[in-house]
Amino acid sequence: MTDVKPVEELSQAEARRELDRLARQIAAANRAYHTEDAPEITDADYDALKRRNAAIEARFPGLKRADSPTEQVGAPLAEGFAKVRHDVRMLSLENAFGMSDVAGFDDRVRKYLGLSPQSPLLYTAEPKIDGLSLSLRYEGGLLVRAATRGDGETGENVTENARTIADIPKVLSGAPDLLEVRGEVYMAHADFAALNARQAAGGEKSFANPRNAAAGSLRQLDAAITAQRPLRFFAYAWGALSEPLADTQSGAIARLALLGFQTNPLMQVCDGPEALLDHYRRIEVQRATLGYDIDGVVYKVDDLALQRRLGFRSSTPRWAIAHKFPAELAWTRLEAIDIQVGRTGALSPVARLVPVTVGGVVVANATLHNEDYIAGRDSRGDPIRGGRDIRVGDWVQVYRAGDVIPKIADVDPSRRPQDAGPYAFPVTCPRCGSDAIREAGDSVRRCTGGLICPAQAVERLKHFVSRAAFDIEGLGAKQVEAFYEDGLIRTPADIFTLRDRFGSGLQQLRNREGWGEKSAENLFAAIDDRRRIPLNRLIFALGMRHVGEVSASLLASHYHSWAAFEAAMTAARVGEGPEWAELTAIDGVGDVLATSVVMTFQQKREREAIDALVAHLQVQEVAARAPVDSAVAGKTVVFTGTLERMTRAEAKARAEALGAKVAGSVSAKTDYLVAGPGAGSKAAKATELGVTVIGEDAWLALIGTA
Ligand code: IVH
Repeated sequence: MTDVKPVEELSQAEARRELDRLARQIAAANRAYHTEDAPEITDADYDALKRRNAAIEARFPGLKRADSPTEQVGAPLAEGFAKVRHDVRMLSLENAFGMSDVAGFDDRVRKYLGLSPQSPLLYTAEPKIDGLSLSLRYEGGLLVRAATRGDGETGENVTENARTIADIPKVLSGAPDLLEVRGEVYMAHADFAALNARQAAGGEKSFANPRNAAAGSLRQLDAAITAQRPLRFFAYAWGALSEPLADTQSGAIARLALLGFQTNPLMQVCDGPEALLDHYRRIEVQRATLGYDIDGVVYKVDDLALQRRLGFRSSTPRWAIAHKFPAELAWTRLEAIDIQVGRTGALSPVARLVPVTVGGVVVANATLHNEDYIAGRDSRGDPIRGGRDIRVGDWVQVYRAGDVIPKIADVDPSRRPQDAGPYAFPVTCPRCGSDAIREAGDSVRRCTGGLICPAQAVERLKHFVSRAAFDIEGLGAKQVEAFYEDGLIRTPADIFTLRDRFGSGLQQLRNREGWGEKSAENLFAAIDDRRRIPLNRLIFALGMRHVGEVSASLLASHYHSWAAFEAAMTAARVGEGPEWAELTAIDGVGDVLATSVVMTFQQKREREAIDALVAHLQVQEVAARAPVDSAVAGKTVVFTGTLERMTRAEAKARAEALGAKVAGSVSAKTDYLVAGPGAGSKAAKATELGVTVIGEDAWLALIGTA
């Protein structure tokens, strides 16, 4: 790791080089420890780096760097990036993979807006840059903050680093008072190759692809390092604004170009799906000679008033879509099929491959999905790949699409070894030996061992400490695995008794490789920090099947407190009773999710583990859905009859965005019935119940958009 040459023998030039490298390595270790929750080196190695750095500085005091790591001796490790909450969320894009998806996108947009297939509708089409998104905030024309996307709500403050990027203007003239410009940071192919050559020459690790290089360069704690990396920036969107940039997407981008931003020269306005596909093909032809990576073409509705009407789904806009390029392919040999057991017991077959380069990245593993996929049939039993099965020893075609796990597309039976027999998918769990069963209608075979299965237990713990769950600093996936192996942590509750079970706990942890006194103390403090936890995070952390971040938040904002949630789930029975009715009435909670949650609370072992955990926690209540300040917030609305100024879908989405609940039928709980021409029985029922009945115009006046 470090140069072994004794300090006394170093030349001045060697010493300078080594101090530079040590500063980078120590900064990288700090970052891995603080911002990535994944220490890459042991405390002992970290201390050795710092000692070596200090010894060289002692011999060559003149070479001490302005940002010398010795200045931090005894002090806490440098903090990671500060968090930044985005005023306007940074969203991702829905993907389209072929012609029919693009036509489907156009159809959906038109339906939502109530436009006929013949009405004119313009879109922009532009390359999808394969980098990382960045939001730049200008106040009074000055760059005041730059933030990464993070989880879309909260990103990292990388202002100092962004200032080192030549494409990013620091001062704007003639800009709105408040302007957040969004776009992609990327690295050009030539710069990437030169950087990797420099890294190799300096004994540093090289980057797998330009996107990783761009991300690694932007997320440097030391902006001086970012400054040496050739990063670029294309502007393609915006966040908060004090005044509109233009009336159209294309106009807004032209305005950003005038303000001094780089915008992509291949953006074009197109008048429908045919024109979009034409432009897609033109961009695809130029892809190899652009000099930077793109992974598709983004289509956006050009008219910004229509974009506003279309609005957003939970994490993607309705007015845009990313049409991805087809995946890259390569042939290689399948050496083995391993079975991994996941958090919910799913047995996932993984292909171990003779390593092969696919689109610039070496691939040695790929997913095989499930047993049907290996056998050459889909979930309905119909043949896929012409019914060809996949066997160990086969030549298989691997592909990668974007960031996703590589997959196997096809198999070449003509090159199959004589002795290759059909693959027998295990019917018992390879980790705990319990039966692995496949429920009717499920494509996945699952281990029935629950928490007695070590694989499930570890995966659940990893999920429990993950970023969107308990996010305990210093306790990442790697540490959880090691603690599990040692028997120190078997269930989530064990995390919270770690300190008590070892008295001060220090001795035991100190003996573990990689844990010094300081890191153990830090860990205990980080665990204590999480004894207070918001209800939504707790529900997500429990790792119940089908309960993701969004549904955990739905449950939390419906039940507010752990006591209420727990009482309701304890009383609930699948498919019957008031608790079940209440649970499944939550918008976004379907029968499958509800069954999973209710069943979890009924299983003795699961229930005991949950109770043991919660005994250590103070669960913070979650307020009802973000109180929206509007005349209809909290009101229940029913739409009936024909709406003339918008479609039903748009009316519903807008009402919900303003905090109203949209119901399908009129009851005593209904606040407004919005009735258009042709309203029938609902209007009669509303009158009978004394519910306020209004027309579409009155509704629009009420929500302030008449
Ligand atoms: S528009 C509200 N345009 O792709 C959506 N995104 O997969 C704003 N990206 O997070 C994004 N090139 O990082 C947009 N021309 C482009 C893009 C682009 C790359 C990235 C962006 C986004 C991701 C979604």
